[in-house]
Amino acid sequence: MTTPRKIRVAIVFGGRSSEHAISCVSAGSILRALDPDQYEVLPVGITREGRWVLSGDDPSTFAITGRTLPEITAASGSGVVLAADPTATELIVREPTDGFSSLAGVDVVFPVLHGAYGEDGTIQGLLEMAGLPYVGANVFASAAAMDKEFTKKLALAEGIPVGPYAVLRAGVSLSEADKERLGLPVFVKPSRAGSSHGITKVSDWADLDDAVATARRIDPKVLVEAAIVGREIECGVLEGEAGGTPEASLLAEIHVGDHDWYDFEAKYLGGGRYDIPADLPAEVTRQVQEYARRTFTALDCAGLARVDFFVTADHQVYLNEINTMPGMTPTSMFPLMWAATGLEYPKVVDRLIRTALRRGSGLH
Ligand SMILES: Nc1ncnc2c1ncn2[C@@H]1O[C@H](COP(=O)(O)OP(=O)(O)O)[C@@H](O)[C@H]1O
Ligand SMILES: [Mg+2]
Repeated sequence: MTTPRKIRVAIVFGGRSSEHAISCVSAGSILRALDPDQYEVLPVGITREGRWVLSGDDPSTFAITGRTLPEITAASGSGVVLAADPTATELIVREPTDGFSSLAGVDVVFPVLHGAYGEDGTIQGLLEMAGLPYVGANVFASAAAMDKEFTKKLALAEGIPVGPYAVLRAGVSLSEADKERLGLPVFVKPSRAGSSHGITKVSDWADLDDAVATARRIDPKVLVEAAIVGREIECGVLEGEAGGTPEASLLAEIHVGDHDWYDFEAKYLGGGRYDIPADLPAEVTRQVQEYARRTFTALDCAGLARVDFFVTADHQVYLNEINTMPGMTPTSMFPLMWAATGLEYPKVVDRLIRTALRRGSGLH
C-alpha cells in the first residue's frame, strides 16, 4: 500500500501593503495549524518591495517578539518565481548560486495577504494565470470587496442597508447638496485601503479639505460617509462545505475603549476589546448573519470573509465593509468568532484548503 502524497500548500504572506507584519503573524498561525501528516507547507514570503522568497519556518519570521514586528526581507530565503504556466503549476526557486530549481506540484496556494496587492484581486489574477487553486475570493470579488464604493453598490442592489455616502473621484470635491444630505459628522476615507489608514472623522466642514487630502494620499477616490451612531458588530462567513449557502458565525462586538472610533491604535495597539457573542437580541443577530451571508453572495465571494456592520440603538443594521482575507492571527476576530461557533482554528484552515481544492482554478 502506498501512502497518499501530502497536499502541498504554498502559504504566501508578508507583502507590499501596510499590513505586512499582521500577514506574517497570520501565516505563522496557519503554518502551526496545518497537520504535518496531511500537509506539506512551503512558506513563500513577499518583501515590502515585492520580492518573493522561499522562507524557512523560523518562528521569528512569523511572530511579534517584544516590540519587534516580523518582516520578510530578501535575506529571509532564496528567491521564488511563480511560473505563469498553467500546465506546470509550480514554483521555481532561484538559488543564489546554482540557477533555478523547481518546487513542482503545488496543489493549492493560501494567499494570507491583506490590503493592496493581496486582498484586491491582483495576486488572485496571477494565480489564475498560473492555473493554481487558491484559498479565498476570486479576482472580481476581491477587487469589489477592496473598493468600498463597489461594496456598497453591490450590497444595495441586493437590498442590504448601507448608510448615506458620496463618492469623490479624483479632483472632485463634495457638493453643497451632499453636505446638506450627509450632515455632520462625516467619515472621510480612501475607497481602497484598510486598517483605518487615511480615515478622518470630520465634525466641521472647515476640516473637510484636509481630510480629503489625507485620504487621497492613499487613494485618489475618496468616500464621504454620514457618521452612523451605533455599535460595531462583525460576522465571520465561510463558504458552504459543498458549495451551497455560506455559513455565518456568532457575532463579535468591538468596543473601542476610550477611542472615539476604531482607529489604527484601537485596532492594533491594544485600545479595544470585544465580546463574542455580541450581546444582541436573537432576531437582530439573525438579521446581521443573514445580511453577512447575503453580502458574501452579492459580491461573489469564496472561501471566507469577515463582514462588518453598525447596529444602531433602535436595531437598524447597516453594512460597513467586507474583508475577503481577514486577519488570521490567534487574536483576530475571524478565527475567534468561528472558535466560539464550534469550529476551532485548525478546522477552519483545513476547511478553507479543502474548499479551495474542490473549487479548483478557472471558471466553474
Ligand atoms: N460611516 C461611519 N460611521 C461611523 N463610524 C465609522 C464610519 N465609517 C468608518 N467608521 C469608523 O472607522 C473605522 C474604520 O472604517 P472602515 O470603513 O471599517 O475602514 P477600514 O477598511 O480601514 O477598516 C470603523 O471601524 C468605525 O469605527
Ligand atoms: Mg474596518
